[in-house]
Parts: sequence; structure tokens; C-alpha cells
Amino acid sequence: MDKIDNTKKQDVDTTPEIDTQEAPQEAPCISRRQLLITGGKMGGLAAMSMLLPPQVWAGKSKRSGMVSSAVTARTARYPRIKVGRLSALKQDKPVIIRYPGKADGQKALLIKLGEPALGGIGPDRDVVAFNAFCTHQGGPLEDQYDAKNKIMGPCEFHLSSFDLTRHGMMVSASAVQNLPQIVLELKGNDIYAVGVLGLIYGYPDNLLGV
Ligand code: FES
Repeated sequence: MDKIDNTKKQDVDTTPEIDTQEAPQEAPCISRRQLLITGGKMGGLAAMSMLLPPQVWAGKSKRSGMVSSAVTARTARYPRIKVGRLSALKQDKPVIIRYPGKADGQKALLIKLGEPALGGIGPDRDVVAFNAFCTHQGGPLEDQYDAKNKIMGPCEFHLSSFDLTRHGMMVSASAVQNLPQIVLELKGNDIYAVGVLGLIYGYPDNLLGV
């Protein structure tokens, strides 16, 4: 029986040699700290775009020239509907309106808060309107206005609450999206609804069926 010659096997090994003298070039990368800072800024911008009303963006765009046209394009689809009269509103007495359509899910509360609010109209910037269904799982908020704290909630289903002075920002419990704010305009004594900030619960598009 022939012996295997290990010496010959080593002779035919064609594995390319790695030159350990020259380190491979590293791909450009950013540090974890840089990533966090960058991510934070981008996240903040994204959050702002959801929170701020078109009027605010329009005001900013005069300086930056960036965001105004996009917001205009989005709100231009909404109908302009008269939803109330300023003189008829009483502080902390919500009035039910429907916007942008007449469907039950588009029920909203028009409220004079008695203190300035982001997106508020009127001489005291305290008149706002919000969709009346929780953004978590659609819990009814129609009877959940808390006049003392100017919040909508707690939702009867899982206790979410929304700050009506800050664009309906969620302040507790399960919801992860702000309460959709109805964008209002004042002409004389007449209040008009002209858009919606945020997606109404259960709607892939707020204007579905309108
Ligand atoms: S449906 Fe309102 S908190 Fe869950």
C-alpha cells in the first residue's frame, strides 16, 4: 500500500496569502454619539412636522423656504366648513361638531379652553377643536373633557389622556399618537374648520367618504 506524501499536498496549496502588513481600509463610519445626535435631530423634526399646525409651518417657511409648500398641498384637500360662532361659545362647554365629514368617527369637540393653546384661535388664542376618539383603539372621548387640566381623558378603555393646549399631545397611558386637531380659522365671528392635523382613528385617510 502506497504511503500518502504530506509534503506534496503542501506544495499544491493555492490559498492566496494575506498581506498582514497592510491593514484593510475602513469604511467611513460615525460614532455612537454622532448617531444619537443626528437621530435625535431628525426625530425631533419628524415629531414637529406631526405636531405643528400648518399656520406654524407656514410662518417658519418664510424664513427657511422649505416646508410651506408641502403643508399647503396637504391641507388644500380639506373642505372649509363653518362649524360655529365665536360669541356662542362658553368657556369649558364643548360643542360637538363633525369634520371633515359627517360620519360618526369624524365627530369632534369645539372648545373654548379659557387659556391660550397651540393652534388656538380668537382674541385669546383659546378656541380649539379635536376629534373625539382616542388614537389608541378608538375609545370615545366625547364626555372626557377635563376642564381643570385642559386635557381630553382619561379614555375609558385604557386611560390615555391628551393635552389640548399642546396640539392634543398624549400625556399618559397607551396612546402613541396625538389626538387629531381640527385646524380652525376665524372670519369675523364665524369659525371655520379647514384641515386636520394627524390621522383620525380607524381612517386610512381622513377624507375617506367626504
Ligand atoms: S382606546 Fe383609549 S387608551 Fe386605549
